[in-house]
Amino acid sequence: MSGTCVIGLQWGDEAKGKLVDLLAPRFDCVIRYQGGANAGHTVVAGDEVYKLHHIPSGILHSDVQNFITPGVVINPTTMLEEIDGLSARGINVVENLKVSERAHLVMPWHMIEDATINKVSVRGESIGTTNRGIGPCYRDKVGRTHAIRMIDLIEASRDERIATVSEQKTVLLRQLGATDEELASIAPEKMVALAASWAERLAPMISDTTDLILDAAEANQTLLFEGAQGALLDIDHGTYPFVTSSNSSGVGVCAGAGVPPKWIDHVLGVCKAYSTRVGGGPFPSELNDETGDKIRKLGNEFGTTTGRPRRCGWFDAVAVRYTARLSGVTRLALMMMDVLAHFEELKVCVAYELDGKEIHHVPAHADQLRRCKPILETIPGWNSPVDDARSMSDFPAGALAYVKRIEELVGVPVGILSVGPDRSQTIFTDKAAAMGLA
Ligand code: IMP
Repeated sequence: MSGTCVIGLQWGDEAKGKLVDLLAPRFDCVIRYQGGANAGHTVVAGDEVYKLHHIPSGILHSDVQNFITPGVVINPTTMLEEIDGLSARGINVVENLKVSERAHLVMPWHMIEDATINKVSVRGESIGTTNRGIGPCYRDKVGRTHAIRMIDLIEASRDERIATVSEQKTVLLRQLGATDEELASIAPEKMVALAASWAERLAPMISDTTDLILDAAEANQTLLFEGAQGALLDIDHGTYPFVTSSNSSGVGVCAGAGVPPKWIDHVLGVCKAYSTRVGGGPFPSELNDETGDKIRKLGNEFGTTTGRPRRCGWFDAVAVRYTARLSGVTRLALMMMDVLAHFEELKVCVAYELDGKEIHHVPAHADQLRRCKPILETIPGWNSPVDDARSMSDFPAGALAYVKRIEELVGVPVGILSVGPDRSQTIFTDKAAAMGLA
């Protein structure tokens, strides 16, 4: 028995980074397996705040081995900046991080392509990507002809490969409307020099992570898989096309990390006690009013990666029940309970009304989801702070009733409650023991 996954069940930003950091000391390995620098995982350790984009959230623990596996797309410039920032704060990243030779690189041309295509509207609304080149990089991965992988950096054919792809990308991007300045920035000689500088610094970390992780599992080491984004942004199962380009639900773990399902025992589904979304796309329980503004303010709901204000709304039990089932969630972690502590009355979306009919599933078509009206159940608020609660017995009756109702609606017990960003502001319920987390 070895693997536990931490999966976001909403549209990302569920505070997975806090949980991975907290749980990491109980595991031998922490594994980031999909997404890229679109993720922004915040870890608060005492007075220090760390914002991680590529680097797994286990990195603050020196005896934990961290991995970035084949399913991740890496922008080496950003990752090296992250490594330098952590090193300057005394964290030994180079020794504790292995980066897959199979992982694909987000190249400067992907950033240009993302920014250019991001302006295009899909069904009357822009996807509103993070502009980190994620979609174009995954597109090239699937297309194969223009992809660059980590291993290409340390192969003898590197310079020729980079120069050829950069020439071809220049032609393609010109047609897409890239400016002369943008095209000059990806000139072959510049790209070749950049790749050489990356290779020099990244070489000590580039490894066959698949082999290393399989060895670790076979030697009975414990694995913690760190999901990025949330299951509603999953490319195959999310609110398409307003999604990211990787499998961010639980189904993505095996493919992204390079592990067979037999090594996964537990799935911790992380959700906020309310809902948020950044970027475009339908959001049935969204609150475009003072209550939404109040949640945004109390929850400091602004993007870690882009700083964009997050759209806020009530907890959507239809959506979370779907993603919890899809991801095989065995326990829920209910985050940001402190934010809901200041309301007389709370609401939870228990069903949708679509074209006059009550439905209990997430429709596959964005236009249908956009037409869904939330059917809301009102739950009395408890209206008193819970930031200092350290066990369930410190919770007011109203907060306990809210947690119980979420468990009923989603169909999964809550194992962890979070009442603030600090490690200490976390409660393990009596149901955490079943997943070895008590
Ligand atoms: P991309 O992943 O940058 O292509 O963005 C696609 C969609 O996913 C956009 O709506 C983004 O706002 C959203 N997204 C991507 N990464 C995150 C994340 O880490 N948290 C929340 N939303 C995200």
